[in-house]
Amino acid sequence: MTNQIVGNHALNKVMESNILKISQEAKAAKAQNPEVIDATVGMLHKEDGKLFKYIQVEELLKGLTDSEMYFYAPVNGTKEFSNGVVDWVFGKHKAAIMEKFHLSVIPTTGGSGALSNSLYNFNDFGQAMLIPNYYWTPYENIAEEAHVGVETFQLFDENYHFNLKDFEEKAKSLAKRQNRLFLILNDPCNNPTGFCLSKQDWKNVIGVLNEISRNNVPVILVHDSAYIDYQMKSHESSRDVYEAFLDLDENILAIIAFSGSKTFSMYGFRIGAQLGISKSKAIIDEFNRVGDYSVRARFSSVSRPAMSVIGKIFANPDIKKQFIEQIDIAKDLLRKRIELFEEVAAKEGLNVLPYGGGFFVGIETNNQNIFKDLVNDGVFIIAMPGMIRIALSSVKLTEIERLVKIIKKHI
Ligand SMILES: Cc1ncc(COP(=O)(O)O)c(C=O)c1O
Repeated sequence: MTNQIVGNHALNKVMESNILKISQEAKAAKAQNPEVIDATVGMLHKEDGKLFKYIQVEELLKGLTDSEMYFYAPVNGTKEFSNGVVDWVFGKHKAAIMEKFHLSVIPTTGGSGALSNSLYNFNDFGQAMLIPNYYWTPYENIAEEAHVGVETFQLFDENYHFNLKDFEEKAKSLAKRQNRLFLILNDPCNNPTGFCLSKQDWKNVIGVLNEISRNNVPVILVHDSAYIDYQMKSHESSRDVYEAFLDLDENILAIIAFSGSKTFSMYGFRIGAQLGISKSKAIIDEFNRVGDYSVRARFSSVSRPAMSVIGKIFANPDIKKQFIEQIDIAKDLLRKRIELFEEVAAKEGLNVLPYGGGFFVGIETNNQNIFKDLVNDGVFIIAMPGMIRIALSSVKLTEIERLVKIIKKHI
């Protein structure tokens, strides 16, 4: 018996690299000195420094009725939201997916809620999940909270292509050791690098998963699609990876973790969804059983105003079309920033990791003191083992040349 106040399982919980906290520090430093460059924030900002808000979201929010605004949201989502998110996520591949898979949607508190529900329900305590070595650091915390460990594979090979060989080795080894494979791939626009897998990369990944599954090992593929709407591709073609999903074997469960925060700029509203697909009906029944339970037991239900607004955008073809046009404007903002960033980096001889879209670009470094060195020069970024993450989502075009030159000095 001990007299510690927290439970044994909570003894080692310490938030070591808290991105939101570093962002607050950067914000405070910029308020003191406008010359400070804050490249930490994973929220899209315009060139005038204000948040990029979607007109459709703004207007619909203002017109919500009391029930659309204040009531509890249904655990399985409104029809508009839950059917609409399937159309949105799969785009032109929806019919093929619906034909081959059983499918279920569970609304969650952001993409984070989708990830934490998945990690909690589809692992045994003490097991480990597999992710690439460059990853969004909260994965570690979400896993720890679910009593799950983290193992990594190298995201890049020597030519900065997807490292299929290392993925295959690590996936097979982990599956063999624990008789389960739970994989999260954040794609397209991996946070922190901006890297996108090709459709062929996805086909190769799914080939490996199928091989593992055929040995009677439970395989769970979580597709963290948080930045799917910010890939430097058209709305339709950014969904082409789902063609590769059609080849998934019968006993695999794929869960798409959808984030309303990024797609709708509704970060503070906390809305997202888990979309479970499997060719096995029994697996989707299990997905529903544990998913519904966890929603009720962990956060009860999600943000009703966000669900109402998103449902209206999904259900109204004109508004949806206008909204997609607005997303193109948001993507243009990011495109201009990365083009300038890469141009200045090339001039400075600075190697940038391959960027295919999203809010972040990455640069590898061996400088273990890089975070402090950059802060001393008025630049805030997020430092991770072996690299730094620069949030293009929150820097202005006018800051980019100076930003690249300061990074070059310390990298
Ligand atoms: C890679 C990745 N996945 C998931 C999320 C979850 O976002 P949210 O919970 O706000 O939807 C984020 C947010 O920053 C992210 O960067």
